[in-house]
Amino acid sequence: MPEQNLTEKIGTLDTDRIPRHVAIIMDGNGRWARMRARERSEGHAEGVNSVNRITRISSDLGIQYLTLYAFSTENWNRPQEEVDTLMHLIGWTIRKETPDLVKNNVRIHLLGETERLPKEVQDCLYEGVNATAHCTGLNLQLCLSYSSRWEITRAAKLISGLVKEGKINPDEITEDTITSHLSTKGIPDPDLLIRTGGEERISNFLLWQIAYSELYFTPVLWPDFDNNAYVDALIDYQTRERRFGKTSDQVSAGNNNDN
Ligand code: IPE
Ligand code: IPE
Ligand code: MG
Repeated sequence: MPEQNLTEKIGTLDTDRIPRHVAIIMDGNGRWARMRARERSEGHAEGVNSVNRITRISSDLGIQYLTLYAFSTENWNRPQEEVDTLMHLIGWTIRKETPDLVKNNVRIHLLGETERLPKEVQDCLYEGVNATAHCTGLNLQLCLSYSSRWEITRAAKLISGLVKEGKINPDEITEDTITSHLSTKGIPDPDLLIRTGGEERISNFLLWQIAYSELYFTPVLWPDFDNNAYVDALIDYQTRERRFGKTSDQVSAGNNNDN
């Protein structure tokens, strides 16, 4: 069968079932570079084009939240030179892209222990956050120095602080209490989690929030992840039946009250 062109492929999407929140583990930059006998940093630079592309099409498709795993807590353990390159690439990219993000009504949010980032990188990032604060379209969450265990540990500390001050009773702690002390507070859980690069693991990303997300793993390396590959993931997502613990019959009877 001839490869459908992108517009036709997008036309096959059910506009009523576009995921509200897509989260992506952007993996495979290093391998992309190695396959071309290039430096890993060139793979990261190429990966930025994918970030721009996927942000743009997500916004065009009416996705409300896009969460990108850009640098994990564990990534601090990479060689210092690679960490430095990544940090500067991230900072400069946000500074460069901010005018376009504003034009496209995209609002930037940062998730993670951003105070660990170099000061000048933080400056670029917060300029982007402030400049897009009024935007009402796509919410773009950039996860930087982020890990889910860090986030859950922090939530536990915050909640115990409230207990200690007598502001909350341990008996009153609910799932909502935990959810509202995570850095994703106010953001609905991801409907779809994509990991590029071929590994089928979560690598400490959004462990609490993906309890009922649909998972999609693709061998495509992040710099090669184009709009076609993204729409394939969305089409695959639309074939899934999200049951949230119920039976298939209940779901078809429209008795799916979750989400
Ligand atoms: C993902 O690509 C980018 C980050 C983790 C920052 P990698 O750098 O992990 O690429 P591979 O997995 O080595 O190919
Ligand atoms: C996950 O990729 C983190 C990001 C994409 C930022 P890694 O390349 O760090 O994951 P592992 O170490 O192979 O699991
Ligand atoms: Mg990797």
